[in-house]
Amino acid sequence: MDRIRIVGGNPLNGVIPISGAKNAALPLMIASLLTDDTLTLENLPHLADVEQLQRILGNHGVDIAVVGRRERQDSAYARTVHFTARTIVDTTAPYELVSKMRASFWVIGPLLARMGEAKVSLPGGCAIGTRPVDLFIEGLQHLGAEITIENGYVDARAPKGLIGGRYVFPKVSVGATHVMLMAATLAKGQTVIDNAAREPEVVDLANCLIAMGAKISGAGTSTITIDGVASLSGARHRVLPDRIETGTYAMAVAMTGGDVLLENTSDTLLESALLALSRTGAEIIPEQGGIRVRRNGGDILPVDITTDPFPGFPTDLQAQFMGLMTRANGISHITETIFENRFMHVQELARLGAKISLSGQTATVTGVPVLRGAPVMATDLRASVSLVIAGLAAEGETVVNRVYHLDRGFERLEEKLTNCGAVVERISG
Ligand code: EPZ
Repeated sequence: MDRIRIVGGNPLNGVIPISGAKNAALPLMIASLLTDDTLTLENLPHLADVEQLQRILGNHGVDIAVVGRRERQDSAYARTVHFTARTIVDTTAPYELVSKMRASFWVIGPLLARMGEAKVSLPGGCAIGTRPVDLFIEGLQHLGAEITIENGYVDARAPKGLIGGRYVFPKVSVGATHVMLMAATLAKGQTVIDNAAREPEVVDLANCLIAMGAKISGAGTSTITIDGVASLSGARHRVLPDRIETGTYAMAVAMTGGDVLLENTSDTLLESALLALSRTGAEIIPEQGGIRVRRNGGDILPVDITTDPFPGFPTDLQAQFMGLMTRANGISHITETIFENRFMHVQELARLGAKISLSGQTATVTGVPVLRGAPVMATDLRASVSLVIAGLAAEGETVVNRVYHLDRGFERLEEKLTNCGAVVERISG
């Protein structure tokens, strides 16, 4: 199993290109199931989760062609990929595939809408909480689906097609909003989704669906209205920049000091996180086509944050912000409200010398003047990268084990950091 070795203590200086967003790419790829025409996605990040979803889509009959890729050409860059679901050959998404990644459960929406049936294994994914699927089931039932759960599978049927309806989410869910959005595009009549997720990735999916011929208004607000159409066509769509990758590198610079231009991204995607970061003393300067992050000297100031659905502080940046706070000059409080078990990085950060105590959903972080390198183990994607950030600022050597979590969501991490002066290398095996 690969590991990442970091020798900390160097400031970051240079340019980091930001990749296409994993959490936009996944629902966009799944949207290809809605049409027999070709959906072309540009700026698709090269990530383990994207590859895993390609396997799952292939199982349903989606043809996948990477544009311009030749033998021996480095395939680790963002790519343009054609997805063509001419014929759906299988409406079952099996346990072996779905258990590896929660987002693959989302195929239930387009399969049901297009084929009138879908049998999808209950999902897996990061170990950050129980993550039930009740909202998906309730939402699809409001579109007329008949759903049973048996032997670990959700069996959804709508033999005469889905029918538009109104669903008020009792709780904001990104994934269930994606699924309702996709399913409603082909339902008969109008669907209104209330208390919808407002994340930029929902807007990106809606824009792609609109380019495919869907009639959607209100994406990015709490109420989304969809007027069903008989069929969707192909489209060409560019995956939006990864706001979590943007925020992660911004926090890395705030942690190590230095001056980095984050390229191909926008501050409008993560205003609450950047605001918190600027309160810690980092300079955040939006520039044409990117964001400059700078911290030259001066203390890291302690800042309290609470995670919330967009536009609040993203749960996917909570671990990274905690990494930063371990070196703050004072005490900060970090409250997690989205997932009940998203503090696994706490005990690993402690191995580097961090002082963190947990009480319910709140972590109290007492900043220390130095962290010292140690072997640590990543337990989920964002927790892993918080250990990398801490390792970049720690004295001596940090080895992050179980790097496969990082490969799920960070494209060319070592290269991006090394290009800015960090000492980071992958140890294979
Ligand atoms: C998406 O997960 C992201 N994943 C997550 O990123 C992110 O942390 C999360 O949204 C919140 O922003 C992708 O986009 C692929 P939710 P999702 O449904 O859609 C509860 C990462 O590291 N809930 O918005 O699965 C749920 O348990 C990942 O990239 C129900 O109770 O999250 C949670 O407490 C991790 N019933 C809350 O809602 C349901 O049926 C929000 O989850 C569905 C969700």
